[in-house]
Amino acid sequence: METTNDNPQFSASRRTFLAGSMAVTTIGFGMPAFAAMRAPATDPFIERLLKRMTIEEKAGQLTMNGALGIGRLVNPTTGPEPALQTTLDQIAQGRLTGLFNADDVKLGRTMQQIAVEKSRLGIPLIFAADIIHGLKTAFPVPLGESASFDAGLCERTARATAIEATAFGVQWTFAPAVDIARDQRWGRVVEGAGEDPWLGCRIAEARVRGFQGADLRANDSLLACPKHFAGYGAVQGGMDYNTADIPETTLREVHLPPFKASFDAGALTTMASFNDTGGVPSTGNHHLLTDILRGEWAFRGLVVSDFNSEKELVDHGYAADEADAVLKAVTAGCDMSIQGGLYLKHIPALVQSGRLKMAVVDEAVRRVLRVKKALGLFENPYRSLDPARMGTDIRRPEAVALAREAGRKSIVLLKNERNVLPLPKSGKALALIGPFVTDRNNALGPWMVFPDMKSAVTFEQGVRDALGAGAALAVVPGCGIERPLHGGIDAAVAAARAADVVVLYVGEATNMSGEGASRADITIPKPQVDLIDAVAAVGKPMVILLKHGRALELPNSVKNAQAIVCTWFLGSESGNAIADVLFGDHAPQGRLPVSFPRRAGQEPFYYNHRSTGRPSLVEGPPVGARYREVSTSALYPFGHGLGYSTVAYGATEIGRPRIRMGESLSVKARITNTGTAKHHEVAQLYIRIRVAEIVQPIRALKGIRHVDLEPGASADVEFTLTAQDLAYVHADTRTRTDPGAFEVVIAPNSAAGTPIPFLLAAA
Ligand code: NOJ
Repeated sequence: METTNDNPQFSASRRTFLAGSMAVTTIGFGMPAFAAMRAPATDPFIERLLKRMTIEEKAGQLTMNGALGIGRLVNPTTGPEPALQTTLDQIAQGRLTGLFNADDVKLGRTMQQIAVEKSRLGIPLIFAADIIHGLKTAFPVPLGESASFDAGLCERTARATAIEATAFGVQWTFAPAVDIARDQRWGRVVEGAGEDPWLGCRIAEARVRGFQGADLRANDSLLACPKHFAGYGAVQGGMDYNTADIPETTLREVHLPPFKASFDAGALTTMASFNDTGGVPSTGNHHLLTDILRGEWAFRGLVVSDFNSEKELVDHGYAADEADAVLKAVTAGCDMSIQGGLYLKHIPALVQSGRLKMAVVDEAVRRVLRVKKALGLFENPYRSLDPARMGTDIRRPEAVALAREAGRKSIVLLKNERNVLPLPKSGKALALIGPFVTDRNNALGPWMVFPDMKSAVTFEQGVRDALGAGAALAVVPGCGIERPLHGGIDAAVAAARAADVVVLYVGEATNMSGEGASRADITIPKPQVDLIDAVAAVGKPMVILLKHGRALELPNSVKNAQAIVCTWFLGSESGNAIADVLFGDHAPQGRLPVSFPRRAGQEPFYYNHRSTGRPSLVEGPPVGARYREVSTSALYPFGHGLGYSTVAYGATEIGRPRIRMGESLSVKARITNTGTAKHHEVAQLYIRIRVAEIVQPIRALKGIRHVDLEPGASADVEFTLTAQDLAYVHADTRTRTDPGAFEVVIAPNSAAGTPIPFLLAAA
């Protein structure tokens, strides 16, 4: 059976995904539950199918194979290579639920045809992939894009990503990563939205909405998989795959909310994380995967393992052997295994021996079939498997323009002494120095499984396009990313001497963040620091562009530069986006989603920590909770970011000093553009719960307003706080609001402003 791809949603969503945001926007509070989540627990169609399935077919529905490079296994004259033939046979026998990271939509279509026409029950396959920040059009890495503090933008890039991914034969993305990460040593900080749960929730739900669109059955809807469930961002020492020791209260306060927000926004799948929490690996964690997820949250979707994570239960020392690992994973609530094939290998014998109950397997299969049905795969198995769309929907001009917009909105200006930025487009001799100036390989950043490297715009290209031919530009690498270049520093110093302004593009390579890329030293590599030191000694105005997948510890020569700019990994349009901001065509507007420490040894370092019994003075004599060598304040705090103008915040004002439970509180402040350039301000609302049975963070973000201000103009920003915003997770692990004393402030970042007190009385 083949049906048409002519779903009205397809064109509607393509029309709307590029719509811009309004001048003053609020990041919303959640979405209605998705229709498919409310579907009845037993679906007659699925029950009939289930009754006809053998145990091998059931195990097959729970088994997904990795398929990276599978397109290369088709020989044009002799046909499928043996490894591919094995997969095709498995599909024909109904022993596979789908494939991930397959790279050939035509082959995908052939495989789907085998599944629906040749397998006994004709159950369609599902094609998944790691489409993290774009397919061929690369958007900024998720952490970078989160610096936009603009959930609407994240939704639009996710929508554009979905259009490309579904044109490439992908129906399910293993994204977004919604792990809250507070230790910058962890390489996977780059994949999430940073250290704050509230921002993490808003961005998680936006990305889910963007990927999935309004109708899951649409040809361009990409099923989302918020990951990694759960607590992966809390791995000890920031070392990837490490243990995570998280008290249940912190788990629920910090790490679980972005998952809940994603499910409320309609996500129907999640991936179990590699880590253990308090000694129980997530893949075998019944409390997480069943009690909380299915019990408390009534999640009706499926849980997938993470790349053999069921097998890793053996390596953790949680299961005796492979069969025991499968038993524990399935029983805990991990429905589908990816990569290793262990479910297919062991489930039939486990059931036959009576160790694994058929009812448990049936429930897992039900969940998988329900998701396939929600995607419309039974009616239209060829949805998102249309090779013609490769020609029309990949690297569409609107998507490329969106990548540039997202790139420049993700840039954060940390420092701009004497207004060295923006640079004039003429009249000054520029030296562009550093290993990333002409580099294309590190433009996109980690987690591009199907990259289009050649379309990445380098920084040099971006600058040349902005300045036009004949611009006075010296371009000198100075050093490699992690090694010196013979004569490199001398050439850089000579170029700096001849220039009016030096722009140094330095930082991390792609492979220094992402999976398995944790760092003990979150620093700029030494050969680059030697280069920066030497160029700084020349004494010319210096602009530092940082390339990075995390907050870094900065050396003195960077800290003392006139301007410091976070550019993360900005994706395909990286060079253009940076040039847009550097030369003032667009003022920077990003805000830090992670705190910059003064020293790496402060990690884990985040603004919303609990108060100690000896709170430290930020500056002053070393007393209280602090290190001997360094102030406890951030070098640049969460939420910080400058524009090309200056702003002044008036005092935070509240409607009343005392409210009752059930009432809301109006909080406002006047913001004025006190400079001479246009300004985009991101006003942030923070609260503090003064007394609680579980000690609360010294500040917690609860709202954001984006405001555009002409020079000299003022605007009142106003928020409404409700009892829900004042709730916290209690010792009994339940979330509720207590009457008591609170503080609130509207500020330009997490360290600024003077909080004012108010009281909440019982109803
Ligand atoms: C391992 C990673 O942890 C996960 O994020 C990814 O989705 C899977 N591999 C599949 O590639």
